Order: sequence, then C-alpha cells, then structure tokens
Amino acid sequence: MITDVLIIGGGGAGLRAAIECKNLNVIIAVKGLLGKSGCTIMAEGGYNAVFNPKDSFKKHFYDTIKGGGFINNPKLVEILVRNAPKELINLEKYGAIFDRKNGFIAQRPFGGQSFNRTCYSGDRTGHEIISSLLEYLNKFDRVKILEDVMAIKLIVKNGKCYGAIFLDLNNGNLFPIYAKSTILATGGAGQLYPITSNPIQKTGDGFAIAYNEGAELIDMEMVQFHPTGIAGKGILVTEAVRGEGGRLYNRYGERFMERYDKERMELSTRDIVARAIYKEIIEGRGINGGVYLDISHLPKEIIEKRLETTFKQFLRLGIDIRKEPMLVSPTAHHFMGGLKIDEYCRTNIEGLFACGEVAGGIHGANRLGGNALADTQVFGAIAGKSAKIYAENNELEIFDVKIKDINRDGELNIYNLLDKLKNIMWENVSIIRNKEKLNYALKEIKKIESLLDDVKIFGVVDLQKYYELKNLLTTAKLVCKSALYREESRGAHYREDFPETKDEWRGNIVIKDDKITFKKVEYDIEEYLKKF
Ligand code: FUM
Repeated sequence: MITDVLIIGGGGAGLRAAIECKNLNVIIAVKGLLGKSGCTIMAEGGYNAVFNPKDSFKKHFYDTIKGGGFINNPKLVEILVRNAPKELINLEKYGAIFDRKNGFIAQRPFGGQSFNRTCYSGDRTGHEIISSLLEYLNKFDRVKILEDVMAIKLIVKNGKCYGAIFLDLNNGNLFPIYAKSTILATGGAGQLYPITSNPIQKTGDGFAIAYNEGAELIDMEMVQFHPTGIAGKGILVTEAVRGEGGRLYNRYGERFMERYDKERMELSTRDIVARAIYKEIIEGRGINGGVYLDISHLPKEIIEKRLETTFKQFLRLGIDIRKEPMLVSPTAHHFMGGLKIDEYCRTNIEGLFACGEVAGGIHGANRLGGNALADTQVFGAIAGKSAKIYAENNELEIFDVKIKDINRDGELNIYNLLDKLKNIMWENVSIIRNKEKLNYALKEIKKIESLLDDVKIFGVVDLQKYYELKNLLTTAKLVCKSALYREESRGAHYREDFPETKDEWRGNIVIKDDKITFKKVEYDIEEYLKKF
C-alpha cells in the first residue's frame, strides 16, 4: 500500500491528526477497532482548558509545570494550554457535547489544579470525544481505515521514515505501507504491568519500533500510576469521583490524605495520592488490598448524573456507590515519557511525527488529570498539520525491507513470559523503586529477552503476542535504565534510596541507541511566567 500520510494509532490524537490531512490520501492503521483500542475512549473525567475569565493560561501553565516536577518542556506546555480551549470548541464543531452550567461549559476540580478547569461530558468524556471524531471523519473519502493491523517495524533509510511494516492480525501476513509522512499515535504501555487501566493493545509498540530505528526517547522512567483503579483489577475509577468530592479512607476510617497533603487532600497530584494509597496498603492500613473511596455523602443526583458510568459500573458489581464506598488501589495509567518531539511534533527521524501518549516531554514527571485529553487534540492537530506539509513537499521512496524470520518451533509458552515480565515490573519498577530492585528487574528482563527465540508460536494470536512481548521488553529496559540513572525522586519516579528531589537532577534523561544523556532544564520558571 502507498499513501501520503500514514497514521499509526486511532485514538484521540490519531483521529484528530487525520482531520488535518483529510485532503490528502491518509491511512489510519489500528491494532484493534478504530477508536476502541486506545486509551482516549476510556478517559472519563475530563479535558482541561481555560474558559473562565478568572482563570488564565498562566495558571494552567504553572499548575502543569509544578505538577510535572518542573522538568516539562515549557514550550510544549505553553502550546498545550493556549490551544486547549480552541481544540475543545473544535470538538464541539465535530459533534461532541460538553456539559453546561448556566449556559457555560461546566468545569470541575481535578487534582493539582488551582482552578476548576476540567470540562466534561458526565464521566464519559473520552467516549464523547472519540464518537464525534469518528463520525466527523466519516465524511472524508480520502481517509481510509485499516483495522486489526499491528505496526512491527518502521521503514527507515538514512534517517528518514517512509512508512511501516505491519502484521495482519487476521491472517498473520506481513505487509508494508509506504508513506510520505508517518505519524505515531500508538499511546503508551500500560500492559507492562499486571494491573493497569489501559486496554490490551497498549504494549509500547510506538516506543519500541521508533527506538529500534534510532529515535530519541525522553524521561522514560516517568510512569504514572492512577491512584484509583478498582482494587486488584485496575479498571479506572475516574478522578472525577474525587473532583466531585470523593474522600479516601483507610481501614481505621482515617482520611489519611491529611498526612500526605493536608491542603489539597484527595485532590493532590496523582503521584502523591497514588503513593499515599500504596503506603497505606503496604503498611497494613488497607482493606483487602485497597482503600475506601467514598461519595455516599453526596446528593444522589450528582452521582447518578455526573458519575453515571462509575455508578453503573459498580452497580454491576453489586455495589451501590450512593450508599457504600468503592475499594480502590493504584493502577498503571500513563507514560509521561516517550518520543522526544519539538513544537511541530517532529521527532529526530525525518518524516516521523508523534503525538498523544507516545510523545514525551509535555507532562514532565507527572501528568495532571485532564491534561491528556487536551494533549491528544492539541498535539494531534499539530502532528497532522506538520505531516501534511511534509507529505506535500517530499517524494515517496519505495524499497525492499527485510524482516528477520522468527523461529516458531520453540518450546516456551509466550503467555508465561508475558506474565513474568509484568510481575517483575510490578514488584520492582512501579510506585516505589530502588537500585537493587531496578538492577534485578533489568537482569530478569534481559533473561526473558534471551528466551524470545525459544517460544512456541502456533497461530496469529501467538505471533501478535510475540511482537508485543518484544516491544514490552524494549520498553521495560528503557524504563529501568532511565529509572536507574535518575538518582533522585521526582513526580511519579520515587527512589527510596534517593528520596529527595535534587536541583542537579532538574533535567531530562534522553535515551537513544542504548546511550543515555542527561540535559539540565535551562528555563527559569519565574522568567518564563513573565511571557504570559
Ligand atoms: O481519572 C480520569 O478520569 C482520567 C483522566 C486522565 O487520565 O486524564
């Protein structure tokens, strides 16, 4: 296949990018079903954007940078906050409906924000966004959709990207799509952990296939654990529950957040709340592996209307959250790290652009809830524009690409290796880390990697799992190596052997071709704020 623009990934960022390229030939290649295999559709609570005159871009900018441990790329944050409102209005033009209050777009509080700026559609905001993007894109004949395909390798020659090789998940065939420009919008790698809010497709494919071709990845140690997943299962319990007034309690009925962040309590940043819950549980103050999240003090109508999805989700489990608490614990949720991009979503590989969760640097060490949906639209639009311009000004090149044969006749069970990897990551590279655990994890990851040639591959699903395991292993190594390198604690990266945040570590870890470089952040936040 040949196209002008190839978009790999069909979540919020990929779909938004496609709209910008609608007058060219576009292929959106998705690992599962379009719109349904990304995280956007699962994001419930909201989209951060400045609308109220009492709020400001400056405040949104500062909250994001502070929440991110002051290592975010400020130019990207500025772009995010300045464009988030415009992109929300665009979403409404595409058909999305955000809730209103007194005629204005309603906004709820979310963690780490100095103003109520999270816009929402009940607690199914991501669903609303995806449905309208899909419907809108339907109008454009030149945008083609290819479902059930997995990108296994980027086509790169002399530092330039010309598309990707795909695995057809229906018949196991490998085939290339040649493109003038390529956008990676593959999301993150929540599946690196056994407990995650992410769908099964999120196996770090974009990180791995780009890294394999020489892409630079930034701050890969920064993995966000959402404080509240359904205990033991990981299914997201939206931050909107706390935004609407939800309270956290331990087994003794203590509102334990008082001990961790007295001022912001349950609406502290996610890194702090997740660590607090984790500590309560491991120090014996949890309840069956979780803590209580309670909203039974709220009026019934708020729960039924603004938290309808959560309400129904728990009702199906036999729990009426209007009367009883939910049992929650942290769940792997979002990668702040990812492909290093500039203001045009360009990567260091020419013709390759990245947007959404696969791109890093925007959210620093910890992302604020509600900033991801805004990120998908703002940077999806930019990546789309950049890819369009690039495709209009560059020629396609078609050449043979060799794919290494896989030994399918090994003896090892691939699913056992996947489980082993996930458990290693959960036990050693999750909320609380130290040198010993990280080194152990890295050693074990390499051991699993050495077994890859000895797995049994029987059908297409095994083949998919083989490539996914490969990508997860690459991502796991990137996370471990970066986490070992950063000898401090900042945001989501907590080292019990280096519990302090240190000024000399205020910077970014960039990894490329197995080489790490550390670059101190150069901007002075006070100076930068004067721009607003
Ligand atoms: O809690 C949530 O609704 C998730 C939102 C987000 O990750 O931004």
